[in-house]
Amino acid sequence: MQKQTTKISSASVDSYKTGLRLLILMLIGILGFSSRLFSIVRFESVIHEFDPWFDELSWYPLGRVVGGTVYPGIMVTAGLIHYILHLFNFPIDIREVCVFLAPLFSAFTAFATYLLTKELKDERAGLLAALFIAIAPGYISRSVAGSYDNEGIAIFLLMITYFYWIKALKTGSSLYGSITAFFYFYMVSAWGGYVFIINLIPLHAFALILMGRYSPRLYVSYTSFYIIGTLSSMQIPFVGFQPTFTSEHMAALGVFGLLQLVAFSYLVRSHFTEKQFKSVFRVLLYGVGAAGAGLLGLLAVTGKIAPFTGRFYSLYDTGYAKIHIPIIASVSEHQPTAWPSFFFDLHVLIPLLPAGVFLCFKRLKDEHVFVILYAVSASYFAGVMVRLMLTLTPIVCVASAMAFSELFDTYLEPVPVAEVTTTVNDSTPSSFSKSSSPKKKSDSIITSKHQLSNKGIWGVDIKYITIIPMVFILWHFVLHCTWVTSNAYSSPSIVLASRNPDGSQHIIDDFREAYYWLRENTEEKCRIMSWWDYGYQITGMANRTVLVDNNTWNNTHIATVGKMMASSEEVAYPIMRRHDVDYVLVIFGGVLGYSGDDINKFLWMIRIGEGVYPKEVNERAFFTDRGEYKVDENATPTMKNSLMYKMSYYRFPELFGQQQAVDRVRGAVIPKKPIKLSTLDEGNWNKQFL
Ligand SMILES: *[C@@H]1O[C@H](CO)[C@@H](O)[C@H](O)[C@H]1NC(C)=O
Ligand SMILES: *[C@@H]1O[C@H](CO)[C@@H](O)[C@H](O)[C@H]1NC(C)=O
Ligand SMILES: *[C@@H]1O[C@H](CO)[C@@H](O)[C@H](O)[C@H]1NC(C)=O
Repeated sequence: MQKQTTKISSASVDSYKTGLRLLILMLIGILGFSSRLFSIVRFESVIHEFDPWFDELSWYPLGRVVGGTVYPGIMVTAGLIHYILHLFNFPIDIREVCVFLAPLFSAFTAFATYLLTKELKDERAGLLAALFIAIAPGYISRSVAGSYDNEGIAIFLLMITYFYWIKALKTGSSLYGSITAFFYFYMVSAWGGYVFIINLIPLHAFALILMGRYSPRLYVSYTSFYIIGTLSSMQIPFVGFQPTFTSEHMAALGVFGLLQLVAFSYLVRSHFTEKQFKSVFRVLLYGVGAAGAGLLGLLAVTGKIAPFTGRFYSLYDTGYAKIHIPIIASVSEHQPTAWPSFFFDLHVLIPLLPAGVFLCFKRLKDEHVFVILYAVSASYFAGVMVRLMLTLTPIVCVASAMAFSELFDTYLEPVPVAEVTTTVNDSTPSSFSKSSSPKKKSDSIITSKHQLSNKGIWGVDIKYITIIPMVFILWHFVLHCTWVTSNAYSSPSIVLASRNPDGSQHIIDDFREAYYWLRENTEEKCRIMSWWDYGYQITGMANRTVLVDNNTWNNTHIATVGKMMASSEEVAYPIMRRHDVDYVLVIFGGVLGYSGDDINKFLWMIRIGEGVYPKEVNERAFFTDRGEYKVDENATPTMKNSLMYKMSYYRFPELFGQQQAVDRVRGAVIPKKPIKLSTLDEGNWNKQFL
């Protein structure tokens, strides 16, 4: 009788608690959403139907088949939301949907993180993890309002895929395996980072096999995930048949095969005695292993299996991209991460990551192996490329939330000591038998610690000595996140802000004005040549045709532009004529002191040009005898004659009258000798604005 009443009351308390947690979770979602509204950028985008969509405004004279060169996920998502809202008569513009898409998905991310962490520890850790991911600057940087980028939805998909993978593995249900595959498919349609999933999950499965933890659950979940996931991902035009022949996908295939073998061997085992089985197993393993490796090697040698694509290869061999594929190395997002930026983006969570990983080692159930693998590999990748900080952030949030909540569990347990063990065992019915024994052990550790802490050393309750600094750290973390978000990640990239000497803010709106000028003053059909960084912006804001843009699908074409910029006017002119170039746009920051200008990017143009035209372009010729990259009077003749140099410094000294002409970015004195342009003419900017 008594037992029943306690059960009922604990159940109602439980449902009350669940309700409370849901409420908090919703609040966290709203927090995550609203913290991204700091900046709203003007944004123009129209969703077209994909298949017949051919973009003539870019990649002149080639044009671009949009459906085959982008990941369509994000656009389809936005279009779908727009469609559904209109179905219910919400007259919202597609532009608003696009602007708010990333913040909306960040709220979903908080939820997915909660679910994942709940599987790893408990709801309390889940809430902390959701809170962390909601405000961690490393993720906010990619999901502010107005940033309509693949990463905006991809992190949500990453977390939800992993959640369902853990769920499938725990339950051994092919339904969950299929759901994992579905979200994997969605991820493939949204972001190139899906390769991380298709390598991490097989790695996890492989590690489990090696640890002797093979189980039918693993077999069912992995097989259903792999088959459905791979087949469906091949429906994305941009991906196509890659899963069958590129190296990035081979690990998944290999583990799939291995799993079949292992499953088969377990089947055989049930029919043989132990000794017979061992010899059979050995023969089988060696035979099939050798055959498989031989086949793979043969396919690789004959070129049937494509080697790693450049961007992934550069993850393993960090120096590779710099030498062989300058276009990858030239993007600032692909540079190695500087140490301070770990702290800047993750703050206290970074030192807590090892603590969380340690906790996983202590428990070491199947899902904890996953966290360990994820944390280790993502840390490595984040160190190699700044951009991959984004994939590290979620796991850091999860692991440090586990560490924090373990600490709070130990010191903040509100229930009296004697009851702890019973309630914990009541409220979490363990889904499979293995889990119950380690759980009990850790509970008893908690209780014994608790008893100790109640006594204290100096007669004060020692828990306050631990809790107060921890709460202080958390509070400081919130301050840091708010500060970073509002200062570093809230400004649109097209409008720059700088500080005057007196501390007031100065807005530099030159990019927008330049594009506006192009829109108003050039012929509608004209072609503009510029470096690819500005391609999207020119087509979007000036509505003019460009030669290359941010979708860097054709390296040869980009190299041609780099070559034109790097060669003399006489050489460049016929090539420009061939590409029907009407205007050339260069960005020069020497007057303002804007360091992201084209002269600073020039070396990359030269390198990319040299990669394709090694005879015509020579990087060495742009360096002085002492090996310096100079723009002042010591600059090499090749440099001085290059199109880029001439256009950048054309009439520059005139600005300074009798004084020295100083380039404020490079601190160089530019020679007074006037630069003559023989085939190009300066745009009539002054006539318009004076
Ligand atoms: C962009 O330019 C084309 C002609 O090149 C014109 O037909 C179209 O209406 C312009 N779009 C906008 C939004 O101005
Ligand atoms: C295009 O790429 C450049 C360089 O990576 C970047 O600065 C710029 O913001 C990108 N533009 C768009 C519209 O994505
Ligand atoms: C890339 O551009 C070059 C010209 O710059 C062209 O010859 C080549 O066919 C293009 N490649 C593809 C795959 O279209």
